[in-house]
Formats: sequence, C-alpha cells, structure tokens
Amino acid sequence: LDNGLGLTPPMGWNSWNHFNCNISESLIKQTADALVSTGLAKLGYTYVNLDDCWGLKHRDSQGNLVPDPAKFPSGMAALADYVHNLGLKFGLYSSSGHATCSGTMPGSLGHEQHDANSFASWGVDYLKYDNCFNDNISPIIRYEAMSKALNSTGRPIFFNICEWGDMRPALWGPNVGNSWRTTDDITDEWDRMICIAHLNEFYTAYAKPGGWNDPDMLEVGNGGMSYDEYVVHFSLWAISKAPLLIGCDVTSITNETMSIVGNYEVIDVNQDSLGVQAQMVRDFGEQEVWAGPLSRNRAVVLLVNRKLMTVTISALWSDIGIPDNVTCRVRDIWQHQDLNTTYQGMLTMHLTGHSCMMFVLTPIS
Ligand code: DGJ
Repeated sequence: LDNGLGLTPPMGWNSWNHFNCNISESLIKQTADALVSTGLAKLGYTYVNLDDCWGLKHRDSQGNLVPDPAKFPSGMAALADYVHNLGLKFGLYSSSGHATCSGTMPGSLGHEQHDANSFASWGVDYLKYDNCFNDNISPIIRYEAMSKALNSTGRPIFFNICEWGDMRPALWGPNVGNSWRTTDDITDEWDRMICIAHLNEFYTAYAKPGGWNDPDMLEVGNGGMSYDEYVVHFSLWAISKAPLLIGCDVTSITNETMSIVGNYEVIDVNQDSLGVQAQMVRDFGEQEVWAGPLSRNRAVVLLVNRKLMTVTISALWSDIGIPDNVTCRVRDIWQHQDLNTTYQGMLTMHLTGHSCMMFVLTPIS
C-alpha cells in the first residue's frame, strides 16, 4: 500500500502469542519499557501492538469502541502517549466482522470510518485487522473499506490484513495493506512453524517495499522449541522478509532469546533495502536451501536441516543465481564471522539435526 509505510518489514512486539486475552495497561507499559531497556528498540523493534481483548463487549451510546476500563484504566490515547514518549509506535487490533475472534468485543464491519477516526485520534500507528464473524462478505470489500477509512484520517497507519491466506490476500493485498497474513495461526511447534514458512514461500513474488507477506508472529522465547529450532524459525522469518513481531514476554526475556531476536546481522537481512523475499531454491528432502538477493550485489543463503540427524548440504551457485565461475567471500551471519576460504560454484556445510546456517555471499571476482 502506497502510504509511505512498511518500506522494510515492520518490527516490534505483539501481545497475542504469549498473553492471549490477558493484557493490561501495566503489561503494555512494562513491555514498552523492556523494549527500550533490553536494546531491542534500538535494533528496530519499535511497534508495541495490542491484539484481541482490549475492549468492552459493547460500543458506547455514540457508537465508539470502548477500551475495557478494568484493563486499560487510562484509555488508549494515554497509553499511546506513553509508548510514543519512549520513541516507540503504538499498534491496535480490530476485526473486519461483527466481533473480534475472541468474541469479547465488537468488530469494525460497518463502522470502518468511525473506528478509523477513533484509532487516529488515539494516536494509533499500526492496525492489525482480523477476519472473524464476517458474514461471508468478500474480504476485498471488507479490507478495502478499512484501508480507505484509515487513509482518509490523514494519519499514516500501517495496515495489516489478517485474512489467514484463505482468499489469497497476496494477490489483492498489495493495493490494500502493508502486510497480509498468508497462513493460519502459528503455534509454538517445529512442524507447524516449518509448514507455515513453506506456505508463505508460495507467495514470494508478491512481497515488496510497502507490502509484505505475513507468516504470523514470532514464537521465539515461548518455550515450545529448542534453541536451534528457534534459530531456524527466526532465520526463515528474516530471509522471508516477514514482519518481525516478537511474541514472547519481553519483560522477562532470557539472554538466549535475546541472542536470537537480537542478532543484528540477521535483522539486517530482513531489513535490507532491496526488499526481495528469498525463495526455497532446493529441497534435497528435508535438507533445504533458501536464497535471495540483497542490496550491493550480495546474496543471502540459508541452509536448513529438517532431519534429526546431522547432514551435509550444498548450496549451488546455479540455484542461487550466481554464475558458476564467480568467487564469493562468505560470511556466517549467526557467528558474525567471515569464513577463512572463498568459495566458487558452491558451498557445502555439515548441519546438526533441526538446525540451520545463514550466509551472506559477496562476489569478489
Ligand atoms: C486470529 C489471528 O490470526 C490471531 O493472530 C489473533 O489475532 C487472534 N485471532 C485473536 O483472537
């Protein structure tokens, strides 16, 4: 969507994956504080996004959505101010139906302009717009209505189409939103995470600055996968130019989780100015090679071992789109290390079970 936003994939935090409906003003404030104190904000994680369950079940007599005073006693404008004063951005959630998916609050269907005006007046910078209770109205109509309503407020608001991929939003989303979900919800499990990465990969061609495929939010730090598996998860999201929305409790984030979501070279791949989503260029049967171009004539390569045993995987230049006779300098961006030798034609690595390696290739001759 040409609203000046999302020139690189959005980065930040969202409440849903860890907290579900258990959200409150103090949690959001503490999370915003933690994004700053941990250094995550400096790394680019600037959106603080509330998900479902922030409002009362009914609109007020003027037709306004009402933040639940038990959870958000100061209201959304005050909370947005708090977040903005930390140099961060504030995101909110609604649904393009009669109610949100939890059923605990109204959706915005038929109230698009009214709600968009509320969001803008509260200082909202990002809207995640869900798909429940939609009366089977075409999603293009429902999402376009909110897109136009947001636009007419005059406030730049990043618009996430949370349509779950059913009606192939990648095909119509680029004109309507800044990102669109390509799949159903992620869970904190290896198989589901891998499956979602593959479903999302199908739409590679549609991602570009201003509009991104969204394979859902990160589960890193929520406990359902091993360290190496979370490294694979984060690598796949980074190389796929997915939104990097942390989904764990950042108020108690561990050093281990920080070392994953805080890896600045992997973040740099995600935020690269070229904005081209990588593809899976080869699957040797649970041994995958993903690759994509980066700015300054570089390329990024991700080797993923989906097997439980150690394997050897080769990335062929011909798969990556580099001429066979070109020699490359190779940097391991998880280790922050240039490899000792240069490579021509291919590179071959050993990978332990459920792990990955990620390299930036720079042609030198
Ligand atoms: C479905 C969405 O896909 C989730 O990310 C989350 O927003 C829930 N709805 C909230 O009810």
